Amino acid sequence: MTTPTERAEFVVVANRLPVDKTVLADGTVQWKRSPGGLVTALEPILRNHTGAWVGWSGVPDSDDNPEIEGLDVRAVPLSAAEIADYYEGFSNGTLWPLYHDVIVKPEYHREWWNSYVAINERFAKATAEVAGPGALVWVQDYQLQLVPKMLRELRPDLKIGFFLHIPFPPVELFMQLPWRAEIVDGLLGSDLIGFHLPDGAENFLYLANRLGGHEASRRSVGVRSRFGSVAVGDRTVKVGAFPISIASGEIDSASKSRAIRSRAREIRKELGNPKTVLLGVDRLDYTKGIDVRLKAISELLEEGRLEPQETVMVQLATPSRERVESYVAMRAEIEQLVGNINGNFAEVGQPVVQYLNRPIPRDELVAFFVAADVMLVTPLRDGMNLVAKEYVACRSDLGGALVLSEFTGAAAELKQAYQANPYDLDGVKDAIEAAVTDPAEDRRDRMRAMRRQVLAHDVEKWAKSFLDTLRDTNS
Ligand code: ADP
Ligand code: G6P
Repeated sequence: MTTPTERAEFVVVANRLPVDKTVLADGTVQWKRSPGGLVTALEPILRNHTGAWVGWSGVPDSDDNPEIEGLDVRAVPLSAAEIADYYEGFSNGTLWPLYHDVIVKPEYHREWWNSYVAINERFAKATAEVAGPGALVWVQDYQLQLVPKMLRELRPDLKIGFFLHIPFPPVELFMQLPWRAEIVDGLLGSDLIGFHLPDGAENFLYLANRLGGHEASRRSVGVRSRFGSVAVGDRTVKVGAFPISIASGEIDSASKSRAIRSRAREIRKELGNPKTVLLGVDRLDYTKGIDVRLKAISELLEEGRLEPQETVMVQLATPSRERVESYVAMRAEIEQLVGNINGNFAEVGQPVVQYLNRPIPRDELVAFFVAADVMLVTPLRDGMNLVAKEYVACRSDLGGALVLSEFTGAAAELKQAYQANPYDLDGVKDAIEAAVTDPAEDRRDRMRAMRRQVLAHDVEKWAKSFLDTLRDTNS
């Protein structure tokens, strides 16, 4: 147990710790970077600020705290049954699909909900123990939406912020949720609630009014001003849009290093020095539209609009949520599409699609971004999509072109990308073809404009804007 003087003044609370535990067959423990954009964004913030991080280690029944310099890490243990009900169940079988436009059908099970409540309570208690008097606590994402209210009951002295890393759904979809009022009330325990886009903030404010009977002021939410508020008893909860970003300066510098440049050339050589390298980088998730880009490529090859001898597509896909049924089915579909394209268009020793189902080390990933002529980011729905911003940050040479789904948060900022509606396959094909064949000068102009945006709005600025607003709240 910590004594009050050891308690942290700044606490991040997220379902996952920044590192993920693996226990090898011989019992050796390894800690690797956790998957996903949340950790990509928050890891550099915590590197520059001291504080505590409360989260789960990624394996059952573990309360080991990994050593991370400058960070007080507090592991919250979950049993195998809790992982099944709270994490795979309510978080990723109910909330994830519901908040992503019901691309797959959300399942509503009372035992999953009960587990979600119990685990949120456990995170709230762990946070209450770690946080010092009056500390700033930053709760993250859809897995922990009840924590703000639970934590406020335990520790009314804290300043509590909440940020949602995924889209907040349209009102008519959210209304499906049997526990909709509880979720809204849970979030309203915060002093400040942040979404990526003004639309999400608008949806939430409407729901707070309708479900909680709280007085929500939406007048100021919108494109011009980013804030609204909800009156909850004698407190005021601020609600706003804070589009997340990446450590763009760091990635820009890394991409310029001699080692990365040379590795990028080597990658192209290993791919057979094709005229065009297309790249996809994603968690293997059905929201990412990996199937969309594969179908588009397949038709473009069939129609002779892409040449199989001159084209290689690389798809790097980190395994994700592998025990959730919808993920198992999607993986099979994607692997079949890859097999079909290669079966139809590859030569022996020259696959058209190269697919790796494993995480790639950071430096290697940067080299792939530098090596790729066209980046394919085609989600059916995505809160932000940091991969799109990472690609842009890596292209100080102004080379490369970004094909970007309109249904990502990033599309609001990266207007000069080759944007397409992922449900319109012909539109996606046209966007890919234009990205491959447009004059180099046009592509450079687009990249220049996108780089201005990404380099000027980095993750440090995002965190500062959120935390300054949180400090200024006075409920
Ligand atoms: P999400 O958070 O839904 O996974 P984002 O695009 O916002 O999506 O963030 C994904 C993060 O994970 C990025 O930092 C990206 O570089 C990283 N990532 C995605 N795929 C891979 C991969 N195959 N190997 C290594 N890192 C990956
Ligand atoms: C997205 C979510 C994060 C999550 C990450 C990886 O970025 O917003 O909360 O951590 O995906 O997913 P996982 O289920 O492996 O934590």
